[in-house]
Amino acid sequence: MEIRSDFLVIGSGIGGLSFALKAAKAGTVALITKRNIRESATYYAQGGIASVSSKEDSFDAHIKDTLDAGAGLCHRDMVELVVRNAPAKINELTQLGVKFSMKAAEGAGPELDLGKEGGHSKRRIVHAQDLTGKAVEEALVDNVRSHKNITVYENHIAVDLITHSKFVEATAQETVWGAYVLDKKTGEIHTFLARATIAATGGAGKVYLFTSNPDVATGDGIAMSYRAGATVANMEFIQFHPTCLYHSRAKSFLISEALRGEGGVLRLKDGTPFMKKYHPMADLAPRDIVARTIDLELKKSGDDCVYLDISHRDAGFIKERFPNIHEKCLEFGIDMTAAPIPVVPAAHYICGGVVTDSDGATTIRRLYAIGEAACTGLHGANRLASNSLLEALVLADRASIHAVDLVTKAPVEIPPIPPWETRGAVVSDEAVVISQNWDEIRRFMWNYVGIVRSDKRLERARRRINLLKHEINEYYWDFKVTGNLVELRNIATVAELIIRSATLRKESRGLHYNIDYPERDDVNFLKDTLLKIGA
Ligand code: SIN
Repeated sequence: MEIRSDFLVIGSGIGGLSFALKAAKAGTVALITKRNIRESATYYAQGGIASVSSKEDSFDAHIKDTLDAGAGLCHRDMVELVVRNAPAKINELTQLGVKFSMKAAEGAGPELDLGKEGGHSKRRIVHAQDLTGKAVEEALVDNVRSHKNITVYENHIAVDLITHSKFVEATAQETVWGAYVLDKKTGEIHTFLARATIAATGGAGKVYLFTSNPDVATGDGIAMSYRAGATVANMEFIQFHPTCLYHSRAKSFLISEALRGEGGVLRLKDGTPFMKKYHPMADLAPRDIVARTIDLELKKSGDDCVYLDISHRDAGFIKERFPNIHEKCLEFGIDMTAAPIPVVPAAHYICGGVVTDSDGATTIRRLYAIGEAACTGLHGANRLASNSLLEALVLADRASIHAVDLVTKAPVEIPPIPPWETRGAVVSDEAVVISQNWDEIRRFMWNYVGIVRSDKRLERARRRINLLKHEINEYYWDFKVTGNLVELRNIATVAELIIRSATLRKESRGLHYNIDYPERDDVNFLKDTLLKIGA
């Protein structure tokens, strides 16, 4: 089947939904999403959205905190743009129906209740208790569902982008005309054609054995864009969140940094607090430092986890501010009002991604990337907490203006594109190959390309990924495409990009720490790591 629209949006998190709502004012939007529309990293975001919202705060302070966290690699123009646009975006979300947490202000009406997280010098995290992502996602979904110009395709996964040069002729700059998309329910691959395609597919936490991300985070947009010829950058900068719940039955549950913002203290098994020893900001030091410190303490002690303790705060306050975390912990027999929570670091956010300009445009014509799939230059070598939902909002807005202009001001015909060719592929009777390869990649990425790296570990990872890529590729052409196979292929591509980027950066900076080069080297590495297929 061929499905035509003005805009094809791949992904249903905050970036994809916001873009769709704005672009739909000017044209038709097809929005595809791998599972149900809500299933995205946005939905599970607890912390909130950083936005200067009080008299004590300033744009300059938010800009400085972002630049400090980014360890020299943030693009200052992008930081300024995103930070200065934050209050307007919070306003828009409120107009769309998001109910942020408020508090009574002295002598005035209620005002936003602002949280604090690591690396922030001021309280500036706008939140909806500890369920911010859910509140935002639900408001956006409600608006998208009722928009006549938007058609949502659930259980549809993009297999590959459709590039101009593959079917017409090579042009100076490659163009994308949509994507081949697998309907996971029927097994059919449809041709989705569009004049602008938006990769808003989120992150790639599933490359790692332990992650705070939902299962959908398989780096699809990054992998597809790279295969299509787009430049990707800074893939070595993987943010490990210091505090995921440690429990055999808790798959990927985050304990928000906001807990430390409200006085939570990290402790060893014997109750000793340890962060003060390592950083003047103690438990609210930037995330890379907290995660590495926990890793070090665990390696020293041989313990399985450390503990996050907020039990000294009033029980009523804890239940009101963190209802979601409180309830989840209780499910696992942990009463956080009375006892510390066992926690470990886990892969949380990828600062690298598809290179875009300040309009979300990639190096390929008619292809945009928004949110965690993109590398705009905002995060540099380490993302400041709660800057990511904000980035997605600002860039979705700008990309929509740019893409609407492109599509409406100079309309062009989409060239003839043939349907997907299966080339005699048969249904696989060895699905075990997929699960085996998934496991292998996630395990060696955790052990060799995790929080602390070395040349030897990176070389081991490189050899393994080359072998697996070969095997996955053969499998891909011989057997009928399934959702699991598409994701495995994408995970393998992203893992390879992370390993290559980490190997190229022979220094330690931000989220990339290599014991063979423990120092930052501004002479040789004060630059982004850029990768392009075939280059
Ligand atoms: C958290 O709530 O700790 C996560 C916030 C973020 O990753 O920005």
